[in-house]
Amino acid sequence: MPREVFQVIRASRLAALRAEIAAVLPTPKARFVFEIGCGNGHFLAAYATAHPDQFCVGIDLRLERIVKALHKRDRAGLGNLQFLRCEAGDFLRELPVDVRLLDIYILFPDPWPKKRHHKHRLFKPEFLGELAAWAGQGSRLFFRTDYKPYFDEAVETIAAQRAWRLLPAGPFPFEHQTIFQSRAVVFHSFGATLEPAPAHPARPAADK
Ligand SMILES: C[S@@+](CC[C@H](N)C(=O)[O-])C[C@H]1O[C@@H](n2cnc3c(N)ncnc32)[C@H](O)[C@@H]1O
Repeated sequence: MPREVFQVIRASRLAALRAEIAAVLPTPKARFVFEIGCGNGHFLAAYATAHPDQFCVGIDLRLERIVKALHKRDRAGLGNLQFLRCEAGDFLRELPVDVRLLDIYILFPDPWPKKRHHKHRLFKPEFLGELAAWAGQGSRLFFRTDYKPYFDEAVETIAAQRAWRLLPAGPFPFEHQTIFQSRAVVFHSFGATLEPAPAHPARPAADK
């Protein structure tokens, strides 16, 4: 496909996603709990049931999983829950400027175990920076995987980020078993919190 055609198609897909996001959020200033790679929506449907006062959005690349998640939502009659089929980076790119993320869950992301596939992993410094830009004060990020090498890499990645601070080990604020969790023999989890932005940016030495 010629590059120009690809760019036109991509731009029109992103515009459609922008419109879809704006249509499903309750307000352009919505604050919501966000799950990336929500699969069939087990975790977030349970979360939304237990937290009727919080709006929740789950996204996943796979259409059939989002269809199942939406059925689950509708069967439970949850008005505070939305699921969208989209890619995480695209979702963040197309968010209305005034929305903020509350807690963020990444549960059993694709591990991409082969070294040559590591580039496909979601949990990367740039992505964490984008999440931080959309996170509200006090937002927390919860990560869980059954693939220890990915867990170790994720801990190292987030520990190196100024915007996030690792939380002491402890249970997640909410637990509900996902499909991949039910298949895991053991799994590893961490939480991190958004560091407050400095009240006054540090002055360059020459100004002091
Ligand atoms: C291993 S499954 C885990 C699903 C669910 N969280 C669970 O624990 O059962 C990972 C999910 O992440 C989705 N995914 C992978 N990369 C993604 C991305 N960049 N944006 C959105 N979803 C993504 C996949 O389609 C898949 O459904």
